[in-house]
Order: sequence, then C-alpha cells, then structure tokens
Amino acid sequence: MQLQGKKIILGVTGSIAAYKAAYLLRGLIKQGAEVQVVMTPYAKEFISPLTLSSLSGKPALNSFFVASDGQWNSHVDLGLWANLMVIAPATAATIGKMANGICDNLLITTYLSAKCPVMVAPAMDLDMFQHPSTKRNIELLRSYGNLIIEPASGELASGLIGKGRMQEPDTIISKIIDFFAEKKKLLNRTYLVTAGPTHEKIDPVRYIGNYSSGKMGFAIAEHLANLGAKVILVTGPVAIQCRNSNINRIDVVLAVEMLEKCLKHFEACNGAIMVAAVADFAPIITETKKIKRTSGNYFIELRPNPDIAASLGKIKLDNQILVGFALETDDEELNAIAKMEKKNLDFIVLNSLRDSGSGFQYDTNRIKILDKNGIVQAFDLKQKSEVAVDIVNKLIEMEGGITERF
Ligand code: C5P
Repeated sequence: MQLQGKKIILGVTGSIAAYKAAYLLRGLIKQGAEVQVVMTPYAKEFISPLTLSSLSGKPALNSFFVASDGQWNSHVDLGLWANLMVIAPATAATIGKMANGICDNLLITTYLSAKCPVMVAPAMDLDMFQHPSTKRNIELLRSYGNLIIEPASGELASGLIGKGRMQEPDTIISKIIDFFAEKKKLLNRTYLVTAGPTHEKIDPVRYIGNYSSGKMGFAIAEHLANLGAKVILVTGPVAIQCRNSNINRIDVVLAVEMLEKCLKHFEACNGAIMVAAVADFAPIITETKKIKRTSGNYFIELRPNPDIAASLGKIKLDNQILVGFALETDDEELNAIAKMEKKNLDFIVLNSLRDSGSGFQYDTNRIKILDKNGIVQAFDLKQKSEVAVDIVNKLIEMEGGITERF
C-alpha cells in the first residue's frame, strides 16, 4: 500500500491504449490511492465509463454537466483536490491541446486548473509520435514542469513497430510510487536560487541586460520544489511562470536588489544555487528623463556590480552548500575552477558557448560539473529539466558530507 492517502486524478483520452487505463486504475487502487477518473469525450469510444467507475468507486467524469440532474463538475475543485494528475493514455490531440491551453473538455480544463504535479504518458502511432509538432508539444509540456513518461518501443496497434506505445501500467505505477518517495527527499530543506538576467537602468526606457531566459534557474527551482524543498527564487525579469507552490518567487530588476534579497534569505537556507546571469556593470547614473538622440557619441559611465555568489561565499557556513555557474568561451575548465575557488563554491556548473544547443534561450544544455574535490563529470546534451535533475543530484550527493543543520 505505497500510495495510501494519495489522491490521484487519472485522465483517460481516446487511444486504443485506453483499455490499459483499467489495469492502471486497478493497480493504483490496490496501492491504496483514491482515484478520480476524468475522461475525454473520445475516450468513451474506447472504454466504458462504467468500467472505470466500477473500478474506482467514483463516477468517471467525462463532461462539464451531468445531463440527468444538471449537476456541474467543477474542474477547479478537482484540480485542487489531487496530489497528482496522471494522463494515461495521452493522445497527440490531447497533448497538443494541453501544450496550447485549448481547454474544450473537462480533462483539459482540469489540467489547466491543477495545482498538483502532472504526469503524461503519451500513446500514439510511431509516425504521429515522430511528427515535429508532437515533439514540440511534448517539449512544451516538459517546459511547463510536467513529467513525461516516455512511451515504449514495440509493436503498435497499427501493426507498425516503433516508439509510441504507452508504458505498461506496472511501469507507470512504479514511476508514481517513486515520484511520491522522491517528493520527500528534500522535505524540511530550503534553498535559494537566483535566475534570469538583471536589467541595469540607463534611463526610463533603456537598460543594460543579457539574453538569459531564466529557463535553467526555473527548472532547478521546480525540481528542488518537486523533491519537497522550499525554494526562494530570486529572479530578474523573465517571461516564465512557476508551477510549484513550494516556490516563493521574488522578482527583482537590478543586481543590487538581487544581492539584497539573497543576503536577506541566505542565512535561513541549506544552500544556494546561483544561476542568474547578473550584469557585470551598471550605469553610475540612471537618467530620470529619456536620453535624447544626438549626432555625436554618447558615453555611459559604468561601475562594477557586486558579485552576489562571492558575497554569499564569504558568509557561507560549512554546512551550507553554494553552487555557481560558469558560461565560458575559452579555457573553460581552468576558468571555471578559478571561479569556484574565488567565490568559495562547493561545485560549479560549466556550460560552454561553443556547444550548439547550449546556453541562453535554448531549452537544452550540455554541462560539466566540477567540484571542489577535483571531480569532473561531463553530461550529454539534455533538456534543461533533465539537466536540473543532474545538478540537484550532485547537490544531494555533496550534502551527504555536510552535517544536518535544521
Ligand atoms: O564571474 P561570473 O559572472 O562568470 O560567474 C558566474 C557565476 O557567478 C554564476 O553562478 C552567477 O550567478 C554568479 N554571479 C553572481 N553575481 C555577479 C556575477 C555572477 O552571483 N555579479
């Protein structure tokens, strides 16, 4: 009974793999979970709501209204009730709608209102799975923090052989059990994460900034929070949202503001991961009026910004962990090691601008981790959400040598 007390929404969509939802549901109930089934209209063509209602002991919901008594199924209440939402099988159509916020049925409105983590188990034909639009939609779902249960390879209902088959119910159940176990890994721990660029104001309409999207820092914050940690995310101006309610997001614009917030919160944290691309310089004077265009050159005098990571490095206690990033174009490892020592970091994450698909704005990153004990680990090009897992795993590993503080 490893899922005792867990409340799970099982979303079922119109795929031939919908029959496996019955086995999945049965397995979840056996493990002690309370399961509410929500079906798309087409799912009913593949499996009867009666089957799923009988197995779950609750009506399998499939429309906004119950026609017989006019009762309203509230997607908002459902989304708040659950500890986890699992969509299995998820068709290409549902994945596309989820990626784009097209909520034309109860399942997708529930997904959009859900405050809990969401797992998606795609099921489709191999050509559909390989289509660029499906790939893009799955990446979008990943970037929103959803967990994708990769389909298996094998014989498909169409007779074709390839990737697209929904994972077996037992595999999905063990992933769900692992997920809840993982969720407790960093319970009662707090981490500070910085993310995004800083914008150093020149005048009311102009600033000095950089191309940082905040994606890497947000992915790390989400993963820490998914493992049960409280996260204080101090972020510069970015266009992304947090999903996990364990994240306390603090928005700043300037490097000095970021420093102030970090100094305020660091003491109460078990560690800090400094992902922000802080502007190195800021204008000495911010003009109060827009600078007028002139025919001659215009000079802006800059002063260096405080080094936030180094400032935390100076006050860090032995049982606090400090992680930095280095984006290098040459002599990468040597520069990264020098930075780690100068800022008193426990480990540094190196990404090179030489690698295609790595760095600012991309959804992927190829990193090396160098630690203060001289260990160097190189990783493949991965989604930033997966890179975040590698970085947090390293943090947990290094914390093994740090005595408990709280
Ligand atoms: O020295 P450099 O900017 O290359 O160092 C990068 C690392 O230091 C990153 O972890 C970044 O978040 C942090 N940093 C900082 N404050 C600065 C500059 C960099 O926290 N002013």
